[in-house]
Amino acid sequence: MDEPTHILITGGAGFVGSSLALAFRTERSHATVTVVDNLHRRGSEKNLERLTDAGVRFVKGDVRRRGALVNVGPCDLIVDCAAEPSALAGVDGSPRYAIDTNLVGTVNALEAARDRGARLLFVSTSRVYPYTRLRVLPLETGPCGFYLGTPAPCRGCSNSGINEEFPLNGARTLYGATKLCSELLIREYAEMYGIDAVVLRCGLIAGPWQFGRTDQGVVALWVARHLFGDGLTTIGFGGRGDQVRDVLHIADLAHLVLKITADFGVFAGETFNVGGGADNAVSLRTLTEICRDVTGRTIPVGSDPRTRPGDIPWYVTDARRIHAAADWRPRRSVRDTVVDVASWMHRRRDRIERLFS
Ligand SMILES: NC(=O)c1ccc[n+]([C@@H]2O[C@H](COP(=O)([O-])OP(=O)(O)OC[C@H]3O[C@@H](n4cnc5c(N)ncnc54)[C@H](O)[C@@H]3O)[C@@H](O)[C@H]2O)c1
Repeated sequence: MDEPTHILITGGAGFVGSSLALAFRTERSHATVTVVDNLHRRGSEKNLERLTDAGVRFVKGDVRRRGALVNVGPCDLIVDCAAEPSALAGVDGSPRYAIDTNLVGTVNALEAARDRGARLLFVSTSRVYPYTRLRVLPLETGPCGFYLGTPAPCRGCSNSGINEEFPLNGARTLYGATKLCSELLIREYAEMYGIDAVVLRCGLIAGPWQFGRTDQGVVALWVARHLFGDGLTTIGFGGRGDQVRDVLHIADLAHLVLKITADFGVFAGETFNVGGGADNAVSLRTLTEICRDVTGRTIPVGSDPRTRPGDIPWYVTDARRIHAAADWRPRRSVRDTVVDVASWMHRRRDRIERLFS
């Protein structure tokens, strides 16, 4: 065991970063935790109070800027969570913000790690797997949405989901491309400079303190619309809500990150798929039913059959490698996640409702 003593989290006011910062403060109270964030994401400012109350140091900074991570104090572990995390980034305009944050920001994190001899935990994404390949999987439609028609149609894909062997050639969205480019640079820094790094390719993560939008954070958006009114639209793939994702509760991700960072040397150099897995996979239609049940409210759900650029009909994480390596399994179901999100929103309604309009 070699636990970090000074932890730096980029994008640490965001959903994932703030949740990990607080988990470190709770479970590793001997460690200092500093978060750097430019508060670009609407809602991230709402996390500042709970971060500072827990003793997390907040530094307002922009990871696109070279040197942004230079004068932020000592660190022996960097957790890179700063991102423009939308798969639609760049669709309606310049891709520059996403490239500068997601890729240049990671280079700046790597440089900070190189300067200090720190370790790097990179929160990557399942979006590194090309949508052009995911879209041509042989899918059938059942009462619970899409499912694989052939048990193992190609390398890296089975009824257990997509594993790390899934082919990487094809288009993957700008978001996915910036993350994969970052992964490649991380590998080179690891080889050339001996930086210990772990890459977690995460599927859909959800939980309290996520300020979901129509282009990112679907569970939070779905619950918010059920609780606060306003309708929803299922977009793409015929517009029936058949598309499927597996859901990982943020607390389960935090549990995994604590395990990995407590024994970093064991995991260094590895890339893992991380997600809720086949047991926690739901279609949008099923998510709507769960939201109705949990909130006791039924809202109009419209339909738009047109598929958005880069969207995928089915993604389920095959996380068996990390299950075995870390002796870790998600504990919370999709319903547990919806209950937790709804309860957070209910309690905080006055302060957060407008962020979901
Ligand atoms: N939420 C998910 O479902 C999910 C799934 C897979 C991977 N991820 C990855 O997890 C990480 C965190 O995502 P999230 O869901 O917490 O998103 P988020 O938008 O809530 O958090 C990202 C944070 O980065 C900050 N940020 C953006 N640009 C910045 C810049 N130039 N300088 C400094 N800070 C900047 C934002 O203000 C925000 O607080 C991302 O790397 C994302 O790719 C998230």
